[in-house]
Amino acid sequence: MADLPVLATRDAYLALCNELIEHDRRYYVEAAPTIADVEYDRMVVRLRATEAAHPDWVVAWSPTRRVGHEPLSGFVKVVRSVPMLSLDNTYTEDDLRAFHERVRKGLDGDEPVYSIELKIDGFGIELTYVGGELTVAATRGDGTTGEDVTANVRTIRAIPQRLREQVDLVVRGEIYMAKDVFARMNAERVAAGEEPFKNPRNTAAGSIKLLDPREVARRPMSAILYEVVDGERVASGHLASLDVIRRLGIPTSSENQRATGWDALAAAVVAWTDRRDALPFEVDGLVIKVDSFEQRGALGSTSKFPRWAIAYKFPARQVTTLVKEIELNIGRTGAVTPVAILEPVEVSGTTVQRVSLHNWDQVARLDIGDGDRVLIEKAGEIIPQVLGVTARAATPRWTAPAVCPSCGAALEREEDKVVLACTNRLGCPAQRLAAVEFFAGRGLMNIDGLGEKIVAQLLDAGLVADVADLFVLTAEQLEKLDRFAEQSAKNLVDSIAQSKTKATFARLLAALGIAHVGGVVARPIATRYRSLSNLLAAADASTSDELVAQLTEMEGVGEVIARAVDRFVRDPHARAVMDKLIARGVDPEEPVTAPATGPLAGKTLVVTGTLSVPRGEIQARIEAAGGKIGGSVTKKTDYLVAGADTGKTKLDAAAKHGVPVIDEAGLQALLT
Ligand code: IVH
Repeated sequence: MADLPVLATRDAYLALCNELIEHDRRYYVEAAPTIADVEYDRMVVRLRATEAAHPDWVVAWSPTRRVGHEPLSGFVKVVRSVPMLSLDNTYTEDDLRAFHERVRKGLDGDEPVYSIELKIDGFGIELTYVGGELTVAATRGDGTTGEDVTANVRTIRAIPQRLREQVDLVVRGEIYMAKDVFARMNAERVAAGEEPFKNPRNTAAGSIKLLDPREVARRPMSAILYEVVDGERVASGHLASLDVIRRLGIPTSSENQRATGWDALAAAVVAWTDRRDALPFEVDGLVIKVDSFEQRGALGSTSKFPRWAIAYKFPARQVTTLVKEIELNIGRTGAVTPVAILEPVEVSGTTVQRVSLHNWDQVARLDIGDGDRVLIEKAGEIIPQVLGVTARAATPRWTAPAVCPSCGAALEREEDKVVLACTNRLGCPAQRLAAVEFFAGRGLMNIDGLGEKIVAQLLDAGLVADVADLFVLTAEQLEKLDRFAEQSAKNLVDSIAQSKTKATFARLLAALGIAHVGGVVARPIATRYRSLSNLLAAADASTSDELVAQLTEMEGVGEVIARAVDRFVRDPHARAVMDKLIARGVDPEEPVTAPATGPLAGKTLVVTGTLSVPRGEIQARIEAAGGKIGGSVTKKTDYLVAGADTGKTKLDAAAKHGVPVIDEAGLQALLT
């Protein structure tokens, strides 16, 4: 994508800062963005380029200044004049009704107007704005003394660093991590071999207290503000004060509800108890607040809680149920995982009937058996977990099996791990099913229409025993099976054939399911050997130690990975399958990227201005000749290829760093 030129004046720079802030507001406060993410990103690139060219223009509230560059050594204490109180909790409708009656009595029988709000399960925060600019963000701490976490809070894009008016304001609210962000982060952590986080709340709380703001920036969080300190300065009522701060650019909840009378409170409790799971973030209850600041003043506070507000906590998400039996689940790598099959039970809105026990150490710890009653909950409201046994039945306790329940082969405990695995690899029917399903998956061989059920059907019918068998399937064979018609049979055969031509060696290698070899590790190996047949030939021509030595020469391939590859290519079963794949034409060449040869090998070129053909085409020619494309002109740039109307900034930068400026004819001369 073409870079937009560096801005020419400071006014234009300030205008772009303000424009980006306005887009943040539309996105985070209004939830109604008016531009696409790529456009936004382009504007940020332009802002960064301008700031690099004119460091003296940069303002502290620039959208690029959200991430500091230095880790902190600790957090400074912040002492506040208005303490951050917490709320009294209620758990039943009766207790809530008692609160309502207390309030009415305190107001001499007047009927209060309430604000009913979500109780966001995050991390409490107080933001101070002076002259419209964010100066301090502090944690709750003990209420009076909190910690200054401003540098970390600046990384949260939902929190404006500058308001739309130059006002002084102190607001309180909650920082949280959305459920989908949490799930994505955990998936990435698991894929990278890291321990997953427990739940979104702990993750948000832990992240805000990290000492390195750059690490905080990698954990996307959001915020909702729900109280204006000394709110009577801006409005006579609480909800009106939230409207004021929202207009200033501060994110508030769109679910706050104005209500009067007991029936409205009771109805909200019922409605939200059902709806809470549909929200994009976790809530653990409702907060009911008297709206009028005058009435709040009349009601006052105890030393701990205000008398004008209360939290209603939703019922616990823990339930008990009976264990029917244990199921042994065999994964692609042979790991045998215990799964408890339960008497179906509702937990936070969904029916749970199976729950993974993860490993055999956990089974031993729980001391669990058929017929036991167990306490379960949804961790992070997503994955159900067994917390413990509440009543044991007079049945034998579960212990680890000695042999694979699918093929009867011996099980081995993986080194340093609590995982038990079947050693029979592709000889084991259960591993075969998992392996074929994995092979066909997204980002690997990408075979559309080959999900678990169909794979199981193909294995049961004896049409497929391993991944190589997929490539000799015919539409006639498939048509005879349940669930297949003429068209669907043809479609599957077509998508299998397509996968063969579309795959790269790297994807094929990752699809084989070698331990430790995912998409990233597969790439250097694929680049080195170029095809599966070459890799096997290299294995045949060397000893294990020699092959391992060859593999570990590559960046990103360590001893453990190299040994796993070596073991796989020498495993008789795996080797037979790979030979069959090659014989059936599944031996894709790894495409060549940026050869180190070519006339421009090792050179970095920046292309700019209007040229006779689209810029992308010129860049492709440079890459084909071994060159690299640079984004901006630096001392590392070898040539600036300048078309018509090249910007002054690029030419100045080239002059400054002594980079030769060439035109298209000059480039042509370099290419030939
Ligand atoms: S108002 C004096 N409103 O719940 C009133 N709190 O113990 C102060 N919370 O520490 C809090 N959502 O961190 C309020 N809509 C909401 C809230 C909320 C979550 C948290 C807050 C507070 C705790 C209550």
